[in-house]
Amino acid sequence: MSAFLSPDELKTLTDLLYLWTGMTFGESKRYYIERRFADRLKRSGSADARAYLARLGIDAAERQALINAFTINETYFFREDHQLRALADQILPEIVQTKRPGDLIRIWSLPCSTGDEAYSIAIWLLEHWPMVDAYNVEIVGSDIDTAAVGAAREGRYAARALAKLPESLVERYFEPEHRHQRKIIDDLRESVQFTVTNLVDPAAAAAQGRFDVVLCRNLLIYFDDASRRVAADTLYDRLHPGGFLLLGHSESMSRITDRFDFVRLDDAIVYRRP
Ligand SMILES: C[S@@+](CC[C@H](N)C(=O)[O-])C[C@H]1O[C@@H](n2cnc3c(N)ncnc32)[C@H](O)[C@@H]1O
Repeated sequence: MSAFLSPDELKTLTDLLYLWTGMTFGESKRYYIERRFADRLKRSGSADARAYLARLGIDAAERQALINAFTINETYFFREDHQLRALADQILPEIVQTKRPGDLIRIWSLPCSTGDEAYSIAIWLLEHWPMVDAYNVEIVGSDIDTAAVGAAREGRYAARALAKLPESLVERYFEPEHRHQRKIIDDLRESVQFTVTNLVDPAAAAAQGRFDVVLCRNLLIYFDDASRRVAADTLYDRLHPGGFLLLGHSESMSRITDRFDFVRLDDAIVYRRP
């Protein structure tokens, strides 16, 4: 494909995406950017790139469609399951030290993409945390991508997303649908809430309340240090004191902030709000 965005247009587009999402898209990603941009341009019916970019200032629906087109939604069930083990074996037992039976425990999967991570938490706790019924466990999944959140609410998954799940759990928690697609059972689907939220918009994140545990995995890799610092402050503010933060395996807070305590557990290294 020819490079149909001028350097100025490319910069305008990537600056807007950065402002709205915190994600950086450099010149090296031009091919990726132009493919996605070309698709939105065609669907929107705008005359050219310039007209499309001008339209973004006044058309909130197109702005959201553009954001959805640029997100990278890669996810699957039981991804980095050593962290789920740490959650059930060490983190929640620690959290309940300050709770009474029946108390609310809030867990946030942000970003949740198509919901695989949030439902994985629910399944893991049902299978591996004997105290799950003694507390009011609320699992919330949030993402900036409205299409991904819609898919999470529906709970339909292809075989690839379920590949790491033992067959017995697929049978227990998913109903077969046409071809190799499965749908999460209603009881489980209704036990997880999904919302649209932007991690680099502190006010939007604040509307979700506070949490005992936040999983923020595989998002900071797309941010620069400035966005990571905004994210770190937002994550800190969204945690109760003593709450835990779990990042993806290639992500770290060490260069970004010293506000969290670093905690080495048997199965994972995590962060904790003092
Ligand atoms: C690679 S997925 C990670 C999903 C899941 N946490 C995992 O590790 O499997 C990254 C997600 O981040 C979301 N995202 C990007 N920018 C965001 C932002 N500013 N706020 C919230 N979600 C964002 C994308 O829509 C995408 O679904």
